[in-house]
Order: sequence, then structure tokens, then C-alpha cells
Amino acid sequence: MLAVAVLAAGKGTRMKSALPKVLQPLAGATLVERVLDSCRLLSPDRQLMVVGHQAERVERTLARVEGLEFIRQEPQNGTGHAVQQLLEPLAGFEGELLVLNGDVPLLRPETLDKLLSRHRESGAAVTLLSARLADPTGYGRIFADWTGQVEAIVEHRDCNPEQRRNDLTNAGIYCFDWAKLAAVLPQLSSDNDQGELYLTDTVAQLRPAMHLEVIDPDEVAGINDRQQLAHCEAVLQDRLRRHWMAEGVTFIDPASCTLSEQTRFGRDVLVEPQCHFRGATTVGDGCRIGPGCLIEDSHLGDGVEVLHSVLRDSRVAGGCLIGPFAHLRGGTDVAAGCRIGNFVEVKHSRLGEGCKASHLSYLGDAELGSDVNIGAGTITANFDGVRKHRTVIGSGSKTGANSVLVAPITLGEGVTVGAGSTLTKDVPSGALALGRARQLVKENWTADLARQQQGVAG
Ligand code: UD1
Ligand code: CA
Repeated sequence: MLAVAVLAAGKGTRMKSALPKVLQPLAGATLVERVLDSCRLLSPDRQLMVVGHQAERVERTLARVEGLEFIRQEPQNGTGHAVQQLLEPLAGFEGELLVLNGDVPLLRPETLDKLLSRHRESGAAVTLLSARLADPTGYGRIFADWTGQVEAIVEHRDCNPEQRRNDLTNAGIYCFDWAKLAAVLPQLSSDNDQGELYLTDTVAQLRPAMHLEVIDPDEVAGINDRQQLAHCEAVLQDRLRRHWMAEGVTFIDPASCTLSEQTRFGRDVLVEPQCHFRGATTVGDGCRIGPGCLIEDSHLGDGVEVLHSVLRDSRVAGGCLIGPFAHLRGGTDVAAGCRIGNFVEVKHSRLGEGCKASHLSYLGDAELGSDVNIGAGTITANFDGVRKHRTVIGSGSKTGANSVLVAPITLGEGVTVGAGSTLTKDVPSGALALGRARQLVKENWTADLARQQQGVAG
């Protein structure tokens, strides 16, 4: 039997944040979600999470995780005290307990798998992950013999200068024989610099205690402050970009782009500098994105080009050209072969195939047929101050420059709207609609005016 416990009760004082540390985001997922993900492959029989600081908030974030048991730790008196809270829920449990620090988010599932099998093969009472770090400041130091047997773990702040020179650090990931751990847990003392109960102190009581050194120290990077958070983000972004490059995506300037874990790319996508993909975004084959784009929770078909634009919660079908400087907002659905150009904002609208809105427009709550041409400066006035209304424009219609379509309004097919019109009534198919003041011309007006003024002066 295998139980996994994630320690997530700490406040994370060094983050200086209103958010509990384990809920800080990293490439779109919280630290604690990442930690949980890393052990999913092991299919544990029990999954427990020790919560304390802002417990409700942490529980709410993870409410959808199936089979997760929350254990409250109150007050939060150290990692040893956190694991003591498991004595009751795990009473009579037989097997291994895998303990994961909630602030070590980059662990690879394969590494945990290796830890577990090494532990089972060796028959140790505890096996823990270790890493040699160029800068071990802040981490507990592992004192071990050449066979890998751990004598003791001493926290950074409890080390003397000599001990601090040891660069073998504790990753905060442990595989315990639960029965043996349960026997020594009640004996922990708080005789240390922080006056807390340390889980690490159990290791000296458990024989044999073994450590397993990870090859890639970034995997066990812990997050206590914003600098470490930024470091882990950089490591994760690098992993994601490498993955997608291996899958056939070209990045002109990889380091300037960021991805979310759920971003998916087709083949032969070209990503220019300064592009950011967030949420569940998919990008089809042969797309060309950037420079300078933010694309969030959106789906792009094949061969779409997006330049200097912001897309959120939108769908764009194959062959569309978006930008430069377009803004596609929530609920936008653009069919194939459309062009949405300079300073055009589209919100909650559907555009049929081959539509063009090339300059300075706002389309909100609109439904366009196919091959509609939206003239420069066309605005759908969708808000009457209280409610939003729909604008419907039939296929093949054209709006002149600076038209205002006051919703609710329906234009039939093949309608032409004269430039500068403000339309408030429906227009039938095939009609020309004009809604503007007739042009007035007063000949010789300038000369007449000059004469009048001279008369006044004289
Ligand atoms: C801990 C280890 C240290 C190791 C480092 C690796 C101890 C005593 N020290 O130090 O040897 O090198 O992790 O990153 O374990 N937590 C609780 N309840 C508490 C206190 C903490 O649940 O009362 C949780 C925190 O939310 C966090 C984890 O335990 O997720 C680790 O706590 P933290 O205070 O960050 O320990 P470190 O000082 O980093
Ligand atoms: Ca930590």
C-alpha cells in the first residue's frame, strides 16, 4: 500500500504575499497542483494533504481532486508537527508513506517512481531525495557515509560554519516505512533555532536511512521566496519550450516567449519573439505567431497568422490573418479566411468565412454571414446603457467607413451601408442604407463672410 502526503500548511512568510505559498502560480498551475500531479503516476492508495494557513482557500482550490483527504494542522509548528497530524488518519495503515513538500514543484514523476522502487529494493526505513547544490543556502544539509546511509539532517540555520560547507542538501521528498515513522514521530522535540518540530529529525532515529541523489538539481528546487519562484518559472518555461521545439515548433527567440502547460502546437508553427500562450490554447499546423502576441484559452486552426495582437477565449479557423493590433475578446468565433486588422476589437461575435474588418472597428455581440466587408471605423453600438443587443449582418454586405449600427439591428444579405451612416432600423437584403445628414453646400460662403465682417468693422 502507498499513501502520499503533501505538506501544505505553512504560511510562506518569505513570499510576503496575501496568497498562501502553495497557491502561488507557476506556468498557469499552482505549486500544490504541480506537486499532486507529480505523484499521480504512482497511483497511490491514499492521498492526504496537510493544510493549515488559509486552509479553506487551499481546500477550495483543490476541491475537484478526487480522493484527496484534507488534514488540518493547527497551529503550524513545523514539518514534523505536520506529519504528526497523520497519526490518526493513518492509524493501522501498512505500507509506505511518501511525503512531499508542497513547495517543491518541479519534480518529475519518473524520479518519484525511482525513489519508491529504490526504497522497496533496499528495505530501508526511510529513503529521501538529495541534491548537490551550487548554493545550498537555506536547505537542510545531509550528513551521510559513502554507502548512502544518512546519519542526520541539520537545517541550514542550525548548522555551524563547518557544516554549512556541506553541499549535499535535503530535497524535502521522503519515502518512509509508515509503521516505523509512526513509532518515532511522537518523540520529536523543538530544540532548534526555530523552536519547531522538524520532520528531518526523524531520519536520525530510523535505520537504515538512505538518500538518493537526483541528477538534475532543478527538479528539487524549493520555493521560499519570489526569487526562487522566478527561478522555477524559468526552469519550467525552458522545459516547455524544449518540448515543443522537439515536436516541430520554431521559436525565433525562445527565451522571450512563455507557454502554459496546456498549450498545444501543431507542426511547423513559427513563433516570433515576445509571444505568450496562456491557459488551454491550441495552435494549428503552419501558424505564424508574432512578434508580440498574447493568446489565452484560444484555438487557432491551420495556417493562421497573428501579429502584435491579443486573443482571449476565442476561436479562429484556418487561414485567417489577425492583426497587427487586433483584440479578440471572449466568445469570438471567426470562420476560415477572415482578416481582422489594425485596431479592430471583436467581442462575443461570430464571423462567417472570408469576412474582412481591416481597420479601426468594434464588433460586439454581432453575427456576420460570409464575405462581409466591415469598412474602417464601423462600430456596433451594442449597449443601450442597461443591456447588450445583437447586430446581425447578412452575407456579402458592406458597411461604409464610420458607420454606426445601433443594436438590436439586422441587415439582410448584400446590403450596402453608406459611409458615415448611423442606422437604427433593419435593412432588407440588397438595399442601400444611408443614415446621415444630406450634404449642404453654400457657394461663395468664404467671400460673403469676409464682406460681412468688413461691413461690421467699417
Ligand atoms: C524544508 C526541510 C529542509 C529541506 C527543504 C527543502 C524541514 C525541517 N526542513 O525546509 O531540510 O532542505 O524543506 O525544500 O523539514 N509546512 C507545513 N506545516 C508546517 C511547516 C511547513 O505543512 O508547520 C509545509 C510548508 O507549507 C511547505 C513544506 O512544509 O510546503 C516545507 O516547509 P518550509 O517551511 O518551506 O521548510 P524549509 O525551511 O524549506
Ligand atoms: Ca521550503
